[in-house]
Amino acid sequence: MSNKLSIPRGCSDIVFPEIYQWQTVENLMREILHVYNYQEIRTPIFEETELFARSMGQSSDVVMKQMLNLAAQPAEKNAELKLSGLSLRPENTASVVRSYILQNLDKLEGLSKLYYIGPMFRGERPQKGRLRQFHQVGVEAIGPFADSPYLDAEVIALSVDILKTLGLKNFTIKLNSLGSAEDKENFSNWLRRELKDRILELDEEDQSRFERNVFRVLDSKNKKTRAVIDSLAIESSALGAESRIYFDKVQKALKDMNIDFELDSKLVRGLDYYTHTVFEITSTSLGSQDALGAGGRYNNLVNQLGGPNVGAVGFALGIERILLALPQDQEVLSIHPDIYVIALDEKSFSRAWVITNILRQHSISCDICYNIASVKSLMRQANKSKAERVIIIGENELDRGVITIKNFQDGSQQEISIKNDNYTQLLELTTERL
Ligand code: HAM
Repeated sequence: MSNKLSIPRGCSDIVFPEIYQWQTVENLMREILHVYNYQEIRTPIFEETELFARSMGQSSDVVMKQMLNLAAQPAEKNAELKLSGLSLRPENTASVVRSYILQNLDKLEGLSKLYYIGPMFRGERPQKGRLRQFHQVGVEAIGPFADSPYLDAEVIALSVDILKTLGLKNFTIKLNSLGSAEDKENFSNWLRRELKDRILELDEEDQSRFERNVFRVLDSKNKKTRAVIDSLAIESSALGAESRIYFDKVQKALKDMNIDFELDSKLVRGLDYYTHTVFEITSTSLGSQDALGAGGRYNNLVNQLGGPNVGAVGFALGIERILLALPQDQEVLSIHPDIYVIALDEKSFSRAWVITNILRQHSISCDICYNIASVKSLMRQANKSKAERVIIIGENELDRGVITIKNFQDGSQQEISIKNDNYTQLLELTTERL
């Protein structure tokens, strides 16, 4: 490590006053999640690497290129640690499913409707809206009866509700269905046939994607590849009859809630676990990283990881991207002490200290200025604290058994008695809302 401190690339510190925007956003999200009856779940921020490979797919970009494995070095020094088989979570669906299985949540009656808010980690090349540590709010509805199309519509409605409540306007929902595992297989075979003779027209990386998993070609951002994809008549790769009926019901349920969406038959999503409904929410207020969030159904994952045969559907929204897309003129709420206490000299400080403590014991938010300086300088600091009122104690007040309390809002000032350590008047006044 060089002497110069630095923060790891693609990470950020969230400090005052920005932290209040995060808290406001998180509180609003929790309120809405409660309205839809989702319960919070907290899983470790790292898991066995294999869990991610088995769920998202060995050939997915996330597993192939973006996994942050925990260092092998400590494991070499201490074989017991075996850190090298662990990775920081790049997303949370796999961890929630792992937890659902291990905690036997399927033994509970009905659906498990779970949500999380927390950091995720991907070793991507950082740019605006693309970080190595970022935060997601997400939900996963797993369990018996989870295979209702109304649940697909519910999670989409919930993500829209969250975005709208936070003040987002310019976003679009893209919707598609991949169908059942069998439909996916048919689609993959169709795609292979269509692309086989045009493979040299694809970008080099997409040629190897074609070999590994043909769906990945559809995710490509490369111009050459996109031109080929755009020329494909993907609509013709019809879903099976049951999947079509299911997808129609999802769309009807969304229309019943007046939720607008665009059908996009090329939306396949980059992770293996999806079946049936997939969706992505994009915003014109973001640059090239325009996805605010995404999600879909993953009916086979729980069973595939060793759990019961139950359906599941969920989504995750990127919190940094939401904040980037929010109108910049939004007022940020911030928290300040109600009272700021200043002592004008050393002798008065111990009395100021006692008063600060008494106020705190009565749940009145307050702070004290730890340095002794001129009245002017202390008042400047009191002002900077953005407290509503300031308590001033100097020798003069101390001798007379009083303190001065000044209201910053209307400029009024009054003296109150604290003779014989009787703080009744002080507490009456300070607990009164301004
Ligand atoms: P995802 O599309 O990989 O899906 O990520 C969801 C959202 O997380 C993205 O749309 C984006 O807003 C945000 N995000 C992803 N990577 C980054 C990054 N490097 N920097 C900043 N934000 C990022 C999933 O994670 C699935 N687990 C969603 C899901 C839940 N599907 C079903 N249940």
